Amino acid sequence: MQNNTKKKIKFSCRKLWKLFGDDCFNFLNNKNFQPTSDDFKKANIIPAVQNANIEILEGEIFVIMGLSGSGKSTLIRCLSRLTDSTFGEIYFENSDLIKMKYKELIKLRRHKMGMVFQNFALLPHMTVLGNVLFPLEIQGMKKKEMNKKALEVLELVGLQGREDYFPKELSGGQQQRVGIARSLAVDPEVWFLDEPFSALDPLIRREMQNEFLRIQGLLHKTIIFITHDFDEAIKLADRIAIMKDGKIIQIGTPEDLVISPSDNYVKEFTKDIVRSKVLKAKSIMDDSSIDNSLEYKINENAIVDEFSSTIVKNDIKALVVDSNNKGIGTIDKNKVIDILMDKI
Ligand SMILES: Nc1ncnc2c1ncn2[C@@H]1O[C@H](COP(=O)(O)OP(=O)(O)OP(=O)(O)O)[C@@H](O)[C@H]1O
Ligand SMILES: [Mg+2]
Repeated sequence: MQNNTKKKIKFSCRKLWKLFGDDCFNFLNNKNFQPTSDDFKKANIIPAVQNANIEILEGEIFVIMGLSGSGKSTLIRCLSRLTDSTFGEIYFENSDLIKMKYKELIKLRRHKMGMVFQNFALLPHMTVLGNVLFPLEIQGMKKKEMNKKALEVLELVGLQGREDYFPKELSGGQQQRVGIARSLAVDPEVWFLDEPFSALDPLIRREMQNEFLRIQGLLHKTIIFITHDFDEAIKLADRIAIMKDGKIIQIGTPEDLVISPSDNYVKEFTKDIVRSKVLKAKSIMDDSSIDNSLEYKINENAIVDEFSSTIVKNDIKALVVDSNNKGIGTIDKNKVIDILMDKI
């Protein structure tokens, strides 16, 4: 697990609004940036994104979750500036994306951002290789270099040998691998994925999630990933933002959301989550008992599932240690069993 405090902010937005309707900025201004849901109804304005404040850290997987229509796609379309926002600030490191000139923005998008969409969005008349070469051609890369790069990313996503196939000759999972390869071909620093696996059946979806984590383990991109599946979110996310009616209701690690959901909407998402897959040693340990003579040591950030069977099978007590290997608490068998039985 990463230590968030040491990471730099790669991408951020402040007070970001996106409203659909007429004269949205004046409406917002007249309402002092505090419109009520009644105000929206009366003015016939849809609040797709309301006052979003996010800081995405370098190398993290930041997941945006929420029910259909909660504003997830609009938010990332605003962040990547595919859509103009109504109000607010967006920064790629220290570059102000709102003030940026159009040409500069296009350059940034072509060279530093990657996008994967739910419906794959492949070019049907082009082969797999052609699809992956496409963004590189737009970048103006030299032919030899371009081919090398395309073959490299196709191999990364496990599609070597399929270069000459057309999208319609591929399964859904394979098509999405092409989408992933295409978005990675430009070596993006920030990688946006809008429900990339939701059109896939559950088995393939799980396989693609594992692939995605493998690729991220190699590339360490800064990722903004949308899903409305909480299981997918906790599997992939370093942190999750939960959206409702255009508002970000809570931002936290999967564990934060499960342990302290800020309201019933968040609770509803987390209620079926198996706690042992999310809770970490440090949040279940007994910090009033530190016994440095214990042989079995667990890192404070280890997930319960990683150590539960060792403790239960061997009926032993474990010492929880911090990053400096200093004992900070203990966990015994009963505690683990309570969690496995979802009593906590
Ligand atoms: N171009 C548009 N014009 C008007 N309203 C729009 C437009 N695009 C989105 N909306 C509205 O904004 C709200 C948020 O839509 P958005 O597509 O961002 O939701 P979402 O969370 O991505 O949903 P889903 O999970 O179904 O993809 C919805 O009420 C939608 O109807
Ligand atoms: Mg969407």
